Amino acid sequence: MKCLSCYYTFAAVIALLFSFTPSAADTHEKFLQCFYSYPHNTNSISSVIYTQTNSSYSSVLDATMQNLRFSDSRKPLVIVTPLVVSHIQATIICSQRHGLQIRTRSGGHDYEGLSYVARVPFVILDLLNIREIKVDVKNRTAWVQVGATLGELYYTISQASKTLAFPAGVCYSVGTGGHISGGGYGFLMRKYGLAADNVIDAHIIDVNGNLLDRKAMGEDLFWAIRGGGGASFGVIVSWKIKLVPVPSTVTVFNVERILEENATEIIQKWQQVANKLDERIFLRMDLARANSSQHGKLALQANFVSMFQGGVEELILLMQKNFPELGLERKDCTETSWIGSAVFTNGVLIGSSGHEAPEVLLNRTQLRSGKYKGKSDYLRKPIPVDGLQGLWRWLNDDKVQYSQLQFAPYGGRMDKISESEIPFAHRSGYIFHIHYVVVWQEEGDEATQRHVNWIRRLYKYMEPYVSNSPRAAYVNYRDLDIGVNNNGYTSYNQASIWGLKYFSNNFKRLATVKTKVDPHNFFRNEQSIPTLSKE
Ligand SMILES: Cc1cc2nc3c(=O)[nH]c(=O)nc-3n(C[C@H](O)[C@H](O)[C@H](O)COP(=O)(O)OP(=O)(O)OC[C@H]3O[C@@H](n4cnc5c(N)ncnc54)[C@H](O)[C@@H]3O)c2cc1C
Ligand SMILES: *[C@@H]1O[C@H](CO)[C@@H](O)[C@H](O)[C@H]1NC(C)=O
Ligand SMILES: *[C@@H]1O[C@H](CO)[C@@H](O)[C@H](O)[C@H]1NC(C)=O
Ligand SMILES: *[C@@H]1O[C@H](CO)[C@@H](O)[C@H](O)[C@H]1NC(C)=O
Ligand SMILES: *[C@@H]1O[C@H](CO)[C@@H](O)[C@H](O)[C@H]1NC(C)=O
Ligand SMILES: *[C@@H]1O[C@H](CO)[C@@H](O)[C@H](O)[C@H]1NC(C)=O
Repeated sequence: MKCLSCYYTFAAVIALLFSFTPSAADTHEKFLQCFYSYPHNTNSISSVIYTQTNSSYSSVLDATMQNLRFSDSRKPLVIVTPLVVSHIQATIICSQRHGLQIRTRSGGHDYEGLSYVARVPFVILDLLNIREIKVDVKNRTAWVQVGATLGELYYTISQASKTLAFPAGVCYSVGTGGHISGGGYGFLMRKYGLAADNVIDAHIIDVNGNLLDRKAMGEDLFWAIRGGGGASFGVIVSWKIKLVPVPSTVTVFNVERILEENATEIIQKWQQVANKLDERIFLRMDLARANSSQHGKLALQANFVSMFQGGVEELILLMQKNFPELGLERKDCTETSWIGSAVFTNGVLIGSSGHEAPEVLLNRTQLRSGKYKGKSDYLRKPIPVDGLQGLWRWLNDDKVQYSQLQFAPYGGRMDKISESEIPFAHRSGYIFHIHYVVVWQEEGDEATQRHVNWIRRLYKYMEPYVSNSPRAAYVNYRDLDIGVNNNGYTSYNQASIWGLKYFSNNFKRLATVKTKVDPHNFFRNEQSIPTLSKE
């Protein structure tokens, strides 16, 4: 192992110096030879390798490349699309042996493209075909493989039971591999916590190619992959998840208020009450630019998107009592099933009616809006009125094509889970979290710079209103601006610059687990967990 790793480090340095010269091509030939001769690999092996000369290479690469900001980035030497575990094992072993890095991709939604872009010669391990889902209604559990999307998971659960659900995110095409390993927020969060809070077992393949379940991997590693991001520790193959009970009827709404209709007043009230409402109600607030009713002048629009685990009558009463300023009416609301609510909230995201048949959730074509950059923040107290007014000026900047702020309320279950229960540390004391995104389709570097600079300056503007020392961030809304690793060895202290923002006091334990399970730091990227000792 020791020698293999020395050779590996050496090969990686050479590969770095001469990337995309004949030596890289040579490396990839050697990788292929190793892969094809890996013991116990099955017959299907010839159909899982895509080299750059294969006519399907580009379409396979693009299929789950969610953020088009990276479409011109450096490409992998090889894409492997495993069908069985031995294909994954062979990829891990042969990449190490021949000085290639791995980028593991499940759904491809990483904001910074870390599942399909690298600075060094690399292989994409694309798990899109590892996607079986088995629901056990009686025991209220399911096994879901990482290449299954959230949409497929939700649909499959709903086919088995109308009163079971899983608390995870909104967009149908998000992969369960990356999503659950980074936390996973959604409309059931105030009642049941994050997706990662509801994982009870997992299968992972480690750096030596061993397939481990919870018992075999031990509680430290099992802790780390539930919120610490999977990419630093190995390749996760599947999750065993706890399903949660939901009523057969839930209620959804999406009401829109524009600035001239006293939106500021409503927004202030939202900041005070959203985290204190009955935990069966999740009421998200989305802020974006809108065409105002007057003269087509730009204006601000606030959307209140909600799911309540109960019927409309009870919801109206709750809202009249706690948030009358919103002026919610019965006609704004739709009663549906939990799966209907998943279609509805997904519809808000993709701009559809939200009343389609649940089969829309099975669509495996990526929903792509273009190039984007996202960021995140956590707040302990409301943004004051003058802060909000400054924010309207940012949102009204017509030099950016589309921008949006999503405010997701905390409270409920989120307050009750300890900060160290899983690596996701941002729990009690926070009242809500903000997701910022800027989206553009314009081509060229100037457009990219303009949009990226805009969101960076907005982030700076928000500094006085949000958490500090360190400013908390969410790993699933990955942001390389908050700090990155070196190309080679990165010390724990250096990595702490970004690591403490994502993981707070859990970062040290993550580094300890990393040192134990991947001491030579094979599984690494711009924001992978560092080892505690230099090897
Ligand atoms: C349109 C859209 C909507 C979203 N909505 C939500 C939401 O509602 N709630 C929320 O919490 N988040 C949301 N996200 C963020 C999302 O949770 C993260 O981007 C998540 O990491 C995506 O997982 P993935 O498998 O699709 O991504 P990938 O890009 O495949 O992976 C993300 C990271 O995890 C690693 N990884 C992936 N699979 C594995 C594996 N099997 N083993 C080890 N490491 C692995 C990758 O290498 C990469 O570092 C959204 C993102 C987008 C683009
Ligand atoms: C491309 O790769 C796929 C998967 O390995 C294989 O099935 C196919 O035959 C290859 N096509 C060409 C033209 O080489
Ligand atoms: C439920 O789980 C138990 C133990 O975990 C297992 O023995 C049993 O087979 C499971 N039930 C079903 C219906 O699979
Ligand atoms: C806005 O608020 C003011 C004072 O609270 C009130 O008089 C006015 O009617 C409100 N306007 C709208 C459109 O709700
Ligand atoms: C506003 O309306 C105009 C004309 O209908 C349209 O071209 C423009 O894209 C709209 N802007 C926004 C921000 O919706
Ligand atoms: C699947 O989604 C894509 C992207 O949003 C869309 O273009 C396509 O029409 C959808 N297909 C079906 C069958 O709904």
